[in-house]
This record gives sequence, structure tokens and C-alpha cells, in this order.
Amino acid sequence: MAHEVSSDLYARAISLMPGGVSSPVRAVKPFPLYISRGQGGRIFDEDGESYIDTVLGFGPLILGHAHPSVVRALQEQAADGTLYGAPHRKEVELAEMVNSHFPSMEMMRFVSSGTEATMHALRLARGCTGHDIIVKMDGGFHGAHDSVLVRSGSGALEHGVPDSLGVPGEVAGNTLVTDYNDPVGLSEMLDAHRGQVAAVVMEPMLGNVGPVTPNPGYLKEVRRITEEHGVLLMFDEVITGLRLSLGGAQKAYGVRPDITVLGKVLGGGLPMGAFGASREIMSNISPVGKVYQAGTFSGNPMSLTAGIETIKELDRIGLDVLNAEGERLRSDLARSVRKTGIKATVRGEASMFQVFFGDGPLQNSRQIMTCDRERYMRYYRSMLRFGVYLPPSQFETCFLCTAHEREDLRAISDAFAQSLEALQ
Ligand SMILES: Cc1ncc(COP(=O)(O)O)c(C=O)c1O
Repeated sequence: MAHEVSSDLYARAISLMPGGVSSPVRAVKPFPLYISRGQGGRIFDEDGESYIDTVLGFGPLILGHAHPSVVRALQEQAADGTLYGAPHRKEVELAEMVNSHFPSMEMMRFVSSGTEATMHALRLARGCTGHDIIVKMDGGFHGAHDSVLVRSGSGALEHGVPDSLGVPGEVAGNTLVTDYNDPVGLSEMLDAHRGQVAAVVMEPMLGNVGPVTPNPGYLKEVRRITEEHGVLLMFDEVITGLRLSLGGAQKAYGVRPDITVLGKVLGGGLPMGAFGASREIMSNISPVGKVYQAGTFSGNPMSLTAGIETIKELDRIGLDVLNAEGERLRSDLARSVRKTGIKATVRGEASMFQVFFGDGPLQNSRQIMTCDRERYMRYYRSMLRFGVYLPPSQFETCFLCTAHEREDLRAISDAFAQSLEALQ
């Protein structure tokens, strides 16, 4: 596959955009594929090749590309205008839908991305508690803004350090980082900073180092510890919301956070985010309260239309079939791993999966980072040759959508088995 058109487009892009891309994880050596079209569970590149898509826009496209009812509703909405800068019916409709699946979100705000949602939600947590410190999990990703572009410092009880140039040390110093799946570490951290912490923000299931599921009882223990310390618990369900279950991880694991952040599937493929909490907490948001939040495109009718149509369809079909396909695929992949004896571990839940080229417990980011990156990239290239489009990093989550057909899943399993043979 020469991919001449992609190569030419990249040669033009590289002088116009850093790394030739609009977001860093899309950069692949020697050049990324340029996508011309998505249809159902497939994408097509500019050179005319087609692939089974397991990236799905990094998660939002749970119904696949260009789902007919989403497309139809968007066409109708576009004809009625794309932006009003004023309240409209669909905000009320989507808020009611979200509240029915996430009862913890008694009130909410719609924004335009997951990044925006976590940024405002953290300001809310700080504003309503009067505390500046937040705690995040090592390897947890909450968007590209200063408070959360932070990694752990040297000691377990150290304040975080910037994970990007340009993040002020004082901002990073207000973020503490602890290990996922380590309730004792969290409890000690909160003890050491009693009365200073606004919130613990976490992906209930890590998704941005690949999928890392919570150990049994872990999330309930986090809930107990945060309550005991009088600290707000914020679930960033940008990936898990409307995906792990329709009510997200909070429904699946029976844990009610104080603040919830949604994105990805909520926007049905258009830019979208939301944050919500109890009426008491949300009444701190302007214009009712003193925590400021605003956005020109917040709650725009196009994103809301795609979100409403997506949730309507999910309500109609449920997630059981899709999740069962995920389970089947993971067990097929794990069988191939056992057959070849290669050092790899298949992880995930519901319609999410990833293959880690490593073994051991893989319960937190540090353990995941020991996996073999070079081997993953060889696997990635091999899968591409077999027509399966994976994220170009092991530390991302692969997704299935309702448009994937049984043959697509079989093709993924077959490609995987053959790729592993070649990696021996
Ligand atoms: C858990 C989580 N939170 C927040 C974000 C940021 O969302 P967005 O890319 O829409 O800004 C992401 C993006 O991948 C995410 O996975």
C-alpha cells in the first residue's frame, strides 16, 4: 500500500500544522492516513482503501459513522440554523434524557468538549468548596488544560509537576497525583492534606492508557474515602458515559459521584461535553452562583441534535448486544494470545478493548507503561495491512460500534491471530 495521496497531503500539512496534525495522537510515522469518508463501522482513506474502524473518532461514534437517523436529523437541523445563541427546545430534551440515565446529574451544563467540561467542573469544585487542591489519578486524562496536565512528582505525597511546558508550576502544584486502584494511597494523600482538597477527579475506568478496569470494590472504597474526608468525587465519564452502560460507570458499578463529566458519545460525533451534579452544587454556577462558565457554542443545536438522536437509538436498541460482541472479541483475542504464547494481555470491558504487549497485573498507569511499545507499533502496522484501523498507540482504547457486523469482528480476530504469528 503506497498511500500516495496520504503521503502528498502530509507533505503539505507538515509545513502548516505542527506534526502535520490537529491533535497529537493522530501523528503516525512515516505519515498518517488521510481519511476521506466514514460509513457504518468502516473508514475509507484518500487512496481508496477501506478499514474496519476501531478508533471511531476516539470513542464518540458508538453508532458508527453517518448513522442514517443522525444524518437525517442533522440535515433537518442545519436547514433550521446551526446556532442561535439563545435557549432552545433541544437543550431541555437532552437534559431530561441525560438526567434519566444519570440521576446524579440533577442539573447540568452543556459545553463543546470534554476538556471544557472538566475545566469548568473543576472550577465548580474549587469554587463551591473554597479549596484549591485537586487529586487526580496517575495516567488519568481529563483534557488538555493546565490543572490536569500534571504528572506525579518524586515522592508519593509530592505535589504534581507540569506535564507540559507552559503549565505554571503553581497551577500544577495544586494537583496531587495518586495511583489508580490504590485506595490506601488515596486515603493517605487525603489524610496528609485534610481540609485542603476540593475534589478527587478520576476516570472510573482508566481509558487513556488503554482500558484499565477498577479492581472489585475499588470505586466504592473511593466513594467511602472521599465522603469520610469531605472531598467531592468527580467521575470523568467522557469515555465511559453512555458506553460502559447507558448510565455510565456510575450505574455499572453502583457508585454515585458528586460531579459527573460527559463528552464523546453524548455528542453523537459532534463536539460536545457536559458536566452536572446535585442542584445544590450546580446552583454555584453563573448566573445563579458565582462560579463563571460560558461558551458561544455551548448547547449548540447541531451537537444537541446528534446527541439526542444517538441516545434515542441507544435507548431503542440497548447496549447488551454490543457489549456481548465486545466480550466475545476479547475472548477470541485472548485465545490467540494463549495459542502463540506471546507476552500480551487483552483488556477492556463492554465495547472497549486493547491488547497490551506485556503481562503482570496491569492495574495502574505505571504497570501499563512497562508494555512493549515497539511491538505494539509492529502489530498496529500489520493490522492495518489486514484492513483493521487501530489507534496508533497501545495507550489508547479501541472501540466497537453497533454498525460493526459479525464478519467485521471475525476479520479483526483473524487479522489479530495472523499478526501475532508474524510478531513471534
Ligand atoms: C476521560 C477523558 N476526559 C476528557 C477528555 C477530553 O475530551 P475532549 O477531547 O472532547 O476535549 C478525554 C478525551 O479523550 C477523555 O478521554
